[in-house]
Amino acid sequence: MFKVHAVAAHRLPQLLRQMPKAELHIHIEGSLEPELIFALAQRNGVALPYASVEALRAAYAFTNLQSFLDIYYAGASVLLHEQDFYDMAWAYFERAAADHVVHAELFFDPQTHTERGVPMETVIHGLHRACVDAKAQLGVDAQLILCFLRHLSEEAALLTLQEALPFKDKFIGVGLDSSEVGHPPEKFTQVFALAKAHGLHLVAHAGEEGPPAYIWSALDVLHVERIDHGVQAIHDPVLMQRLAKDRVPLTVCPLSNQKLCVFPNLADHNIAQLLDAGLCVTINSDDPAYFGGYMNDNFVQTFAATGMNAQQAYALARNSFEASFVSETQRQHWLHELKVCFEGFVEHDD
Ligand code: ADE
Ligand code: ZN
Repeated sequence: MFKVHAVAAHRLPQLLRQMPKAELHIHIEGSLEPELIFALAQRNGVALPYASVEALRAAYAFTNLQSFLDIYYAGASVLLHEQDFYDMAWAYFERAAADHVVHAELFFDPQTHTERGVPMETVIHGLHRACVDAKAQLGVDAQLILCFLRHLSEEAALLTLQEALPFKDKFIGVGLDSSEVGHPPEKFTQVFALAKAHGLHLVAHAGEEGPPAYIWSALDVLHVERIDHGVQAIHDPVLMQRLAKDRVPLTVCPLSNQKLCVFPNLADHNIAQLLDAGLCVTINSDDPAYFGGYMNDNFVQTFAATGMNAQQAYALARNSFEASFVSETQRQHWLHELKVCFEGFVEHDD
């Protein structure tokens, strides 16, 4: 890795904001801002259990993952038509572009919508059209990853995959999200094997609130290529060695962990420890509309709270490209751009 020059603390936020980066852990339904939720509710004639944007925002006081998911699924109930999915994703892409996110891999939860009678095709076409336009109009490269809801059965996940396969050219992989504890990865062995047989990439949430054992089974039973969150790995030294040796990426989401009380104080987050242990750690926003920040908010606030430096910023951005599902040519292009950005960020006294 090339030598990163020291950057004064007061200039670090500027570097964090302007460096090119990839976002690999964003639930697109978690980017629905309260204003858009209310606009879509009105457009679609959907009744919401909140009187106003302010009342909805005031409900964003979470104590754990489940307390958030209950509100997150209620928010997603306003999405009915293809244009709704497009508008949601487009709003995210505009923010991603402003944060110098050059590549994004977006999770979507089809079961949240198909269970309400929205056709799979409506969901995928709306999101995919926004991905195509994001590349053409904003220069943001984007791909979709279909997530199974782990609080539902494996049979439901299998049906969901079968329903989505006709649109396989519009998503690159599958993931596993929703309520973690009590729903271990091995519950989804067959559906992940089927997805793999269809050439799809595999990722799974593990070790957000759940134990290190869930990270082991995501790796060894589901055969995932990345772990989403994974911060509980810190409690298992053998697992830490395995993750470091194999460079298994962890898509860490600091503001999410803070808001869901995994690390109530951002200064206590273990991201620097994970990075120092040689893990391929990345920073991501998870559900930015609910957790108080998009990519650059996550970077700037985490660095301010933990005292991480420019060398660590470079490593995190580099890891985001290393961990992404892009071609080797594309990866080398962005790694070059990242290096140019850091080389151009010359210290000056002010
Ligand atoms: N769905 C949306 N955000 C999630 C998270 N942080 N963990 C699990 N499932 C989710
Ligand atoms: Zn997540």
